[in-house]
Amino acid sequence: MSSSQHARPDHPIHDLMVRRWSPYAFSDKLVPAADLRSVFEAARWAASSYNEQPWRYIVATKDDSAAFNRLLACLVEANQEWAKDVPVLAIGCTHLKFSRNGKPNGVAIHDLGLASAQLTLEATSRGLVVHQMAGILPDKVRLQYHVPEDVQPLTALAIGYAADPANLPEKYRPRDTTPRSRNPLSSFVFGSDWGSPAPIVSPS
Ligand SMILES: Cc1cc2nc3c(=O)[nH]c(=O)nc-3n(C[C@H](O)[C@H](O)[C@H](O)COP(=O)(O)O)c2cc1C
Repeated sequence: MSSSQHARPDHPIHDLMVRRWSPYAFSDKLVPAADLRSVFEAARWAASSYNEQPWRYIVATKDDSAAFNRLLACLVEANQEWAKDVPVLAIGCTHLKFSRNGKPNGVAIHDLGLASAQLTLEATSRGLVVHQMAGILPDKVRLQYHVPEDVQPLTALAIGYAADPANLPEKYRPRDTTPRSRNPLSSFVFGSDWGSPAPIVSPS
């Protein structure tokens, strides 16, 4: 990957998080199945409310073109445009009810996010990149894969190896070459009042 896309943190963070990013340009190189197993194993070991593990993933790899195209068709058109070239696609779903009592799991979406975050860092450690997408067609996922009513298809994940953005369609190129930015800690770590930066982030 281009190091220009590395995070430039204000405070030291783990190298895996420095290197994680969401590219549009993917190489067509296939991902070894053993790496993919480890990537989903990392999701498996995420924390979750009551250890419910509400996450579910539907996965398709480029070497099975029928399965891949079926999954690709569940993305919105704008995402299909670049994701058609990635070697692995997944749809992240989450079970909205606790299996123990059938009651709503108010953090099911949160827990899918945690699992996908772990998955992403494991992928990064293996030289892979993950680009998540909210732009999916949930009803189509439901229909195509017979997703039960209590399960919400929520995100897609493109998994593979970053490639040279020079080969991207012009409109996507700046997104892979513009330096990444973030809001400062003082804008979201509060102390005595909403909007008031916590002392730890604004030492006097
Ligand atoms: C839950 C989620 C949904 C996203 N949805 C889309 C999407 O539909 N299409 C897209 O191109 N990027 C999508 N992204 C990628 C974000 O735009 C990207 O993470 C953000 O710009 C920060 O860039 P970085 O991941 O390289 O740090 C999504 C990311 C997340 C985590």
